Amino acid sequence: MTNFEEDQFNYTEHIQTEALLNSQKLVSPHPEEMLFVIIHQVYELWFKQLIHDTNRCVVMLQNDDLAQATWLIQRMGRILKVADSQLSILEMLTFADFQEFRPFLKKSSGLQSRQFREFEVLAGLAETAGDSYANWAESLWPGIIESHPVTLHSAFIEVIERSNLSLIGIYQSRWEQALLFNLCEACLEMDRMLTSWRHNHIQMVKRMIGGRAQGTGGTFVAKYLEPTLKYRIFPELWEVRHEMTSATGGKVAE
Ligand code: HEM
Repeated sequence: MTNFEEDQFNYTEHIQTEALLNSQKLVSPHPEEMLFVIIHQVYELWFKQLIHDTNRCVVMLQNDDLAQATWLIQRMGRILKVADSQLSILEMLTFADFQEFRPFLKKSSGLQSRQFREFEVLAGLAETAGDSYANWAESLWPGIIESHPVTLHSAFIEVIERSNLSLIGIYQSRWEQALLFNLCEACLEMDRMLTSWRHNHIQMVKRMIGGRAQGTGGTFVAKYLEPTLKYRIFPELWEVRHEMTSATGGKVAE
């Protein structure tokens, strides 16, 4: 075996290209279904990386390893940004083509992505989005909340509590408190990117099937997807903006 063949062999083994390339099980004869399947698979891979990194970040925050946690959270923000931008590829699947193979999908829906829900829960959404979200997540995947007793959000809050500073105090003394300030901004940015994905996904759903249509998962956009736009992983970081606006003399509606 030449060096080149050995390298090829190692790459193929390591990356598991064969398994990856054999994982596109199309359910229709439509040539555009391939794009639909591959985009979802790429998302699932990114969800896997996000879950992996979020688990690591939780431990880093518990150990007050703020610099490294911040770096990873910033990188997660970038992954979400890339994931978000991938929707623009799917937007070039014409809705007429999509509708031609949609019946073959039956009840299959992104709603059934276990990894998406796990990422949300591990990030802390079951703490911040209210009981109805927590009950819903639990009904879909029993035990999912219990399996993440410490979340990115709760670990973050504990870091802030240990610092004996308020969030507004951190922002006011941002350069002296650069580690905490950078952590807060990384978390906010990650939250923003997730919301941006939700927003663009909804726009795409409207473009593909229409805003009043029922999804393959059985829900209606206005009733199910649109309310998810108000979800925040770190509501405190959005709220402190109001505090700062008021503290500097600005008006904030109740
Ligand atoms: C033609 C493209 C797409 C359409 C028409 C579409 C449509 C929908 C609809 C209608 C829902 C609400 C649940 C339902 O009743 O089915 C939904 C949920 C969802 N979709 Fe998509 N989707 C598309 C592409 C994608 C892609 C590429 C992803 C990437 C993973 C994705 C991930 C999700 C997730 C995670 C949910 C659950 C959201 C939540 O519970 O907050 N979808 N989708």
